[in-house]
Amino acid sequence: MREEFVSILEALDESALSGYDFRQLAMDQLSFLDEYKWSGVYVLVGETLFLDAYNGDAPEHKEIPVGRGVCGSAVSENRNKIIEDVRTESNYLACSVLTRSEIVVLIKQNDEILGQIDIDGHKVGAFTSEDEAFLSQMAQRLADRWD
Ligand code: SME
Repeated sequence: MREEFVSILEALDESALSGYDFRQLAMDQLSFLDEYKWSGVYVLVGETLFLDAYNGDAPEHKEIPVGRGVCGSAVSENRNKIIEDVRTESNYLACSVLTRSEIVVLIKQNDEILGQIDIDGHKVGAFTSEDEAFLSQMAQRLADRWD
């Protein structure tokens, strides 16, 4: 795994925070990565995703129904999503006109979806399976200290 990814996971492991503060620390750490232009956590309550900790501009979509957009469809399809170019995605909710690519990684505990990490990038194809592997490790840490 890339050294900067390892450093971020180490920073999380060294922190004593939990819950929202821990999730905010994680999103703030992601802002140091060049391609990560907006980073946020959405928490799943019933059939709705609610915006939780984030780093970047306040987004328009603070509540997203399951099935809507990239975020909502990740939940309804129970899988992570990597969108190379959001302009080709029909089920997409725009938060910034600058966004070109997006990755959503589910946060799960014992097969239950707690929420998700959502990242926007400004370049086409900014995120790969390497980002997914890194964010999956972050998601497990967030789940372990969910509160
Ligand atoms: N693009 C997402 C909405 C969330 S914003 O990117 C922060 C979607 O299509 O669900």
